[in-house]
Amino acid sequence: MSQNGRFITFEGIDGAGKSTQIAATLDWVRAHGHVAVQSREPGGTPLGERLRELLLNEPMHLETEALLMFAARREHLARVIEPALAAGQWVICDRFSDASHAYQCGGRGLPVAKFEALEQWVHPALQPDLTFLFDLAPEIAAARLQSGRANADRFEREQRDFFERVRDAYLQRAAASAGRIVVIDAARPQEAILADVLATLEARFR
Ligand code: TYD
Repeated sequence: MSQNGRFITFEGIDGAGKSTQIAATLDWVRAHGHVAVQSREPGGTPLGERLRELLLNEPMHLETEALLMFAARREHLARVIEPALAAGQWVICDRFSDASHAYQCGGRGLPVAKFEALEQWVHPALQPDLTFLFDLAPEIAAARLQSGRANADRFEREQRDFFERVRDAYLQRAAASAGRIVVIDAARPQEAILADVLATLEARFR
């Protein structure tokens, strides 16, 4: 747990619909008088955004992919997340290490022990205070992506079975998270999802 500010992350397979809920969470945090910092992974710093370009577009070995995700994360922690939390600000982040567990281990087959070693190296004492996992069947997510996006990136071009494995890894991580990860059924209408998000924020932080 962060000592001062709060760290809230958003996860799910591509097309699960995080953006609207991130915007609503930012509004909620600010309406309650806190300074909110919005960020994303991979990315969130000038170097991290350059690594993001490579990660989303350049073919690479699965361990290279995992290492670059955590390299971008190390920079993000040092330059954005840790200073903001220490200043009492709330960090609202689109993806964090749960995505590495889901995509690199679940999706690509990276051994979990290697993920855990990187996590232990890069953020041994920090986890999000709260993580929303927007859970959705890959076929519904794929249909949403196709109608909403012209140029798919390296991850979005993956097949259904990849996203099934990513989804399963996310759900396993949620089950082992002792309540940190809240699973939201993202197949429902946006208003129902939003109501769950706001109710969770009220229950956890008020
Ligand atoms: P995201 O920003 O959600 O994509 P978009 O803006 O296109 O909706 O995430 C970028 C991609 O990076 C997404 O497919 C998941 C992947 N990813 C990983 O594989 N591992 C990670 O650790 C992170 C943070 C993201």
